[in-house]
Amino acid sequence: MPNFRIAPSLLSADFARLGEEVKNVIAAGADIIHFDVMDNHYVPNLTMGPMLCEAIRPHTTAPIDVHLMVKPVDALAASFAKAGADIITFHPDASDHVDRTLALIKDAGCKAGLVFNPATPLHYLDHVMDKIDMVLIMSVNPGFGGQKFIPEALNKIRMVRQRIDEYTAQYGGEIWLEVDGGVKVDNIAQIAEAGADTFVAGSAIFNTPDYAATIAAMRAELAK
Ligand code: DX5
Ligand code: ZN
Repeated sequence: MPNFRIAPSLLSADFARLGEEVKNVIAAGADIIHFDVMDNHYVPNLTMGPMLCEAIRPHTTAPIDVHLMVKPVDALAASFAKAGADIITFHPDASDHVDRTLALIKDAGCKAGLVFNPATPLHYLDHVMDKIDMVLIMSVNPGFGGQKFIPEALNKIRMVRQRIDEYTAQYGGEIWLEVDGGVKVDNIAQIAEAGADTFVAGSAIFNTPDYAATIAAMRAELAK
């Protein structure tokens, strides 16, 4: 069985108690903190900046997975690396020089990944497979939590899974396949079956009273 990772999105957490929320959700069995950065330019919403990342950093040793929904990308990527991010992903269509942005993130000591919106073609992967640690497939259009999973994402996940497997079989290394948007207890098994290994879930976890029970229910689905 692959090594499955659960990454709660802080977007649906209580912003007035973020440090506590981070601690609670990791204690409840989550693996990674997913940190959604929106700039009211690339996406029509405004969320958290590097100062907030720096503020939650001392509250957990779990990796902080920063999902940049911003344009331009480079200056903020550098700020988040300084603010304690472990993984930084960005939308390739938001960067003029994808290879340069990836290099900037890696040189700052972070893992790097590309994010694909539902309609973003996968060709952005063509020449950078050696420079990425993660592919993030959006299963909703970015900008808001609590949206419905777009089923076409499953085909895309299958395509990326095949690509990652072919690449790593030939060249080694490890590339995670993360899925973000509308992930719930009742569809997580299907998403894993398509090939994902890392699951972002915001509303499905933070809108339930017992995070541990929800994460355990997700893991039980993944173990089926
Ligand atoms: C959407 C964000 C997601 C979102 C997930 O733009 O990237 O991480 O918060 O939220 P849910 O799990 O509620 O769809
Ligand atoms: Zn996200």
